Amino acid sequence: GDNLVVLGIETSCDDTAAAVVRGNGEVLSQVISSQADLLAQYGGVAPKQAEEAHSRVIDKVVQDALDRANLSEKDLSAVAVTIGPGLSLCLRVGVRKARRVAGEFNLPMVGVHHMEAHALVARLVEQELSFPFMALLISGGHNLLVLAHKLGQYTQLGTTVDDAIGEAFDKTAKWLGLDMRRSGGPAVEELALEGDAKSVKFNVPMKNHKDCNFSYAGLKTQVRLAIEAKDIDCKHPLSSATNEDRRNRADIAASFQRVAVLHLEEKCERAIDWALELEPSIKHMVVSGGVASNKYVRLRLNNIVKNKELKLVCPPPSLCTDNGVMVAWTGLEHFRVGRYDPPPPAIEPEDYV
Ligand code: KG4
Ligand code: ZN
Repeated sequence: GDNLVVLGIETSCDDTAAAVVRGNGEVLSQVISSQADLLAQYGGVAPKQAEEAHSRVIDKVVQDALDRANLSEKDLSAVAVTIGPGLSLCLRVGVRKARRVAGEFNLPMVGVHHMEAHALVARLVEQELSFPFMALLISGGHNLLVLAHKLGQYTQLGTTVDDAIGEAFDKTAKWLGLDMRRSGGPAVEELALEGDAKSVKFNVPMKNHKDCNFSYAGLKTQVRLAIEAKDIDCKHPLSSATNEDRRNRADIAASFQRVAVLHLEEKCERAIDWALELEPSIKHMVVSGGVASNKYVRLRLNNIVKNKELKLVCPPPSLCTDNGVMVAWTGLEHFRVGRYDPPPPAIEPEDYV
């Protein structure tokens, strides 16, 4: 049980990440190589460039994870790797590496679902978090409300009908001319602190839909129109903006964030009611994925969840954004119950197509 040691590899998007985690939840190492410069250059993730960047660093990232854990491949119980969802070109870099390590050292492999990993890492953080529980998973590509009955058994209560909230944060940052050398979310969150969140009137999406689905495409358009109306030039960096220009941008950032999160709040409230009908013993609501590292998001959702007499479990920011720990941990959870693949044949890397 607790003596298991699993290596986790994550390459589904723009970060190359690896980690080594022990069965008792101890994180032995955690390494992330991010493509910040590429993000700034292309204003988003370009699959081909991202794949090349993963390929350049994957060997080193995995080696660093093992070195920092003071382990060699021989000490591992299994190798876990994200197999989807994500950019297929990028996923393949991680899967190829995992197969190479597992093949060479005769290790079982566990294929991990990226969104399940975002949810289950909360069980590493909070030991008392047991099934069934609820999860709101909010990232750049996904906006999911899930009821987790038991390991591997999930009911989707809601999803986005168009864009995810992280995508809306990223575009808002881009159009406001914020520093894109990191992802847009943190930049909008920081600027929003200076702004008046009630100054720009945005409509809360899907107000009249009595379901648990999300929509962020319309809010994105509202933000773009507000930015155009205030004559904000996104090519003009914030650092050289006039006071008035800066205040306008901050007001839009704060107003956007407030309404984007209000949408989450409304749908979470309804989803909790639905979930409690299906599973009355639920005690916890997990909020995870990159956007869950936002302090305002955490604060507002904590209020909702507390009012419903549940406990909010939000992993620390480093485990909310994409990371290798969540993959290693989810691999451990499945490995423990016998859900894994046998070691792949040991063949040379050039044999792979
Ligand atoms: O989970 P994640 O790292 O990657 C995906 O699976 O997509 O999430 C990335 C998303 C990006 O859209 C990023 O802007 C957003 O999470 N994000 C934030 C914050 N930190 C990251 N959004 C709002 N506030 C933040 N502090
Ligand atoms: Zn993610």
